[in-house]
Amino acid sequence: DWTPEHFIATTVAKIREQVGETGHAICGLSGGVDSSVAAVLVARAIGDRLTCIFVNNGVLRKDEFAKVQKTMREELKLNVVAVDASERFLGKLAGVTDPEKKRKIIGNEFISVFDDEAKKIFEAEKSSGEEIAWLVQGTLYPDVIESASVHGPSHVIKSHHNVGGLPEDMKLKLIEPLRDLFKDEVRRIGRDLDMPEEILERQPFPGPGLAVRILGEVTPERVAILQEADAICVEEIKRAGLYRKVWQSFAVLLPVKSVGVMGDQRTYASTCAIRAVESEDGMTADWAALPYEVLRAISSRIVSEVRGINRVVYDITSKPPGTIEWE
Ligand code: XMP
Repeated sequence: DWTPEHFIATTVAKIREQVGETGHAICGLSGGVDSSVAAVLVARAIGDRLTCIFVNNGVLRKDEFAKVQKTMREELKLNVVAVDASERFLGKLAGVTDPEKKRKIIGNEFISVFDDEAKKIFEAEKSSGEEIAWLVQGTLYPDVIESASVHGPSHVIKSHHNVGGLPEDMKLKLIEPLRDLFKDEVRRIGRDLDMPEEILERQPFPGPGLAVRILGEVTPERVAILQEADAICVEEIKRAGLYRKVWQSFAVLLPVKSVGVMGDQRTYASTCAIRAVESEDGMTADWAALPYEVLRAISSRIVSEVRGINRVVYDITSKPPGTIEWE
């Protein structure tokens, strides 16, 4: 007897009661389903006393920083502060190749940028006395489970930062409206909230972004190369009508160069791997048997349109034993 309408009504009422008549909340937006639905629910409850923070960490997808801002403001009517901190993140990532170090750097930088913005927002909003500030997070049930389990597969091995990790001196109280839900339930709620399909059907994208899909060093040049390859991959998967059928589909830039030919020229450039998986919740996954024509289109477009890549391979590993991401 769980229905989206009932969930929305009770959740909005509960948030309104928690935050009260004067409290303020902030929310980090990623552009993904979870943080967007969480933000819209909270905005229903407290209106523009919610401020959303959207950070460009330099490893977003092609054009994503601009696109997400536009959707969040114009379609979801959210109050958004956008911070372009890409130089700061990329500066810190220079020379780093270890996957966990990349995650830590991005996690720490994010908290620091977010913290700065949050302070500015709460200072501006501060009226009288001690007010509790609220932090909205789009944590889902599987995040809660995986973070709690000692022998949990990926999230213990890979230090995720979307659960916990609050700045200590901020006295923020947490609102996690999606804590009991699975992804498909979040999508149903988003639909009931009239949110655009473009957001609801978006494939998951990791917090550390393209940094964990660039094996080896993350440089601005390599980010630009992967952004182009990734955009082609998404476009072709969408064109084939498969975007919603697969859980995730993306390109990975490998630190492997190989010889190729282009016209009568010999090339020596990077290899790109394509990863597409089917999954219910990301905890286990099967590699997707993409049609050869789709793989052919992705491969030939990447090699001809992306300077710096001359070879494309397809990943046929399921999870377990593989993980979905390569790092
Ligand atoms: P793995 O690679 O562990 O991925 O099989 C499982 C799911 O989690 C996502 N993922 C992350 N999400 N921060 C995130 O927010 C991370 O560090 C991270 N690592 C993996 C991955 O995209 C997949 O959906």
